[in-house]
Amino acid sequence: MCGIVGYIGNRDAKPVLMEGLKKLEYRGYDSAGVAILSTDTINIVKSKGRLGVLEEKLCNVDIEGTMGIGHTRWATHGEPSDLNSHPHVSKNGKIAIVHNGIIENYIQIKDFLSEKGYCFSSETDTEVIAHLIEYNYEGNLVKAVLKTLNELEGAYALGVLSVDNPDMFVAAKKDSPLIVGLGENENFIASDIPAILPYTREVLILEDKEVACISGGKVEIYNLLGERQRREIFHVDWDVCASEKNGFEHFMIKEIFEEPSAVKATISPRIRGREIVLDNFTITDEMIKNCEKIHIIACGTAYHAGVVGKYAIEKLARIPAEAEVASEFRYRDPIVNEKHLTIVISQSGETIDTLMAMREAKRKGSRTLAIVNVVGSSIAREADDVLYTWAGPEIAVASTKAYNTQLSALYLAALSFARRKGLLDEKEYNSYINQLQQMPEMISSILGEREKIQKFASEHFNAKSIFYIGRGLDFALSMEGSLKLKEISYIHSEAYAGGELKHGTIALIEEGTLVVCSLTQEQLFEKMIGNIREVKARGAVVLAVAHEKNTEKVAKIADSVISIPDTDSILAPIAAITPMQLFAYYVAVIKGNDVDKPRNLAKSVTVE
Ligand code: AGP
Repeated sequence: MCGIVGYIGNRDAKPVLMEGLKKLEYRGYDSAGVAILSTDTINIVKSKGRLGVLEEKLCNVDIEGTMGIGHTRWATHGEPSDLNSHPHVSKNGKIAIVHNGIIENYIQIKDFLSEKGYCFSSETDTEVIAHLIEYNYEGNLVKAVLKTLNELEGAYALGVLSVDNPDMFVAAKKDSPLIVGLGENENFIASDIPAILPYTREVLILEDKEVACISGGKVEIYNLLGERQRREIFHVDWDVCASEKNGFEHFMIKEIFEEPSAVKATISPRIRGREIVLDNFTITDEMIKNCEKIHIIACGTAYHAGVVGKYAIEKLARIPAEAEVASEFRYRDPIVNEKHLTIVISQSGETIDTLMAMREAKRKGSRTLAIVNVVGSSIAREADDVLYTWAGPEIAVASTKAYNTQLSALYLAALSFARRKGLLDEKEYNSYINQLQQMPEMISSILGEREKIQKFASEHFNAKSIFYIGRGLDFALSMEGSLKLKEISYIHSEAYAGGELKHGTIALIEEGTLVVCSLTQEQLFEKMIGNIREVKARGAVVLAVAHEKNTEKVAKIADSVISIPDTDSILAPIAAITPMQLFAYYVAVIKGNDVDKPRNLAKSVTVE
């Protein structure tokens, strides 16, 4: 998704903008640009392509200025091109803007402005905003922006600067992320915290439908009625290197190696004595006992965590649960009421489909619980209860440690609900808690198998299609294993329920087809052995993931086995996903792909 950076202060704006945009590259983009105010001129430099292309252009022009806005664009309206790149300027060239989001009524506004004599050089909705601000401008930039925003429908994070206002610029937010960084006689805006961390840890988080007037010395926040808003300063306690590679070749492998600490950080603070204590939850025992259904809503990897959560909640807390992709849930007029709990899962806390799905569930009376990794994100702020995954910043587009910690949070919730419903005796409860606390070292031991996984990847990186099969929680796990491979290796893959393969898809299994089989579910183990025999009989090559106690038996029929430490089947996915993440990573590296920034993908999908 697009990245926005803005700066005003005493430094040369150009390096501040460029370094900030580099920190946002992980969000995914196809073009980039900056607008820097110098004397009475707005200097716009922008281009299709990576930031290196923009940097080259900037080397060839002499631009001085201490205020500017920058943008990395992930194309929505109009193909990636120099013309469609941001910033966009108004007709009179006096106003420049950068935008993340989609304006849903831009065509109507474009028609209106065309009748007023405005011409458009790009295909973007953003350029329409620039002209509309000019049309509404009567000498006060904040008022012109406020008037404009009241006429827009859709999502936006905006940075706006004007020649007539050299001592301030304006920012605005609705449904797309934007934060304000507070420095010493300098201030910043950014789509995400890593962009401003080198300069400040003091942040103001804009709420939806708010506008910020930002000068070097102060920041004023208004609602769309122009009323001043007060806001607590949020102190970012990440260490800067958490958003650096620290010697790893890629962020993705670094983040896989952070899984033990991330899972520990998510679980340990919530186990006090021998009890699971969820952070200031307002949901009561009564609500849990009377809860008739749990909807688990998310996208992508977070959705796959939700499918695991469904199995865990039903098995442990005996509450009917359904996992569903947010983009389907929000448009099907779902049956939701006040006796339901809706759990939304999101690493970024800004995925627009998940945010809108949560709003739909709330509108229908459901309580909401957010499992989110980014503190203060939109989803976190709007949910009734929040269970943060303390995974630290996840920079690689392909989500890894976030998934392991999302599972950890879901198990904590499922066990807490089961306990509060009186469904777990002391012995069972303590056993689960002990195993959860051992998860970090289990994952660490799996990381020790990476050479074996890397070798297997080197033998299969040319596969045309790879199947992931499993039963029960292993099927849920296979969904994520398959997505990980697809999104960074670009190899076609699909996850299949082991018992369903013979109902059609097994026709695709032929000599040499690679099938990854997960066998962590004890009561389905023999069934999965049968499924391995089925695919082997048709020439498949099988990579199995199995508990240590079953490794010898599985090795007799599979071509390779990755062992994971023995644990209760229901908790196995927290660790069993790691070998699949490593396999996908090594295949992508061997193929020479851009592992951290795979083609076409964005870290946070903040547009529909
Ligand atoms: C996963 O590797 C992808 N990056 C993508 O599927 C992601 O999980 C999905 O877009 C949801 O993002 P979120 O967790 O930030 O809401």
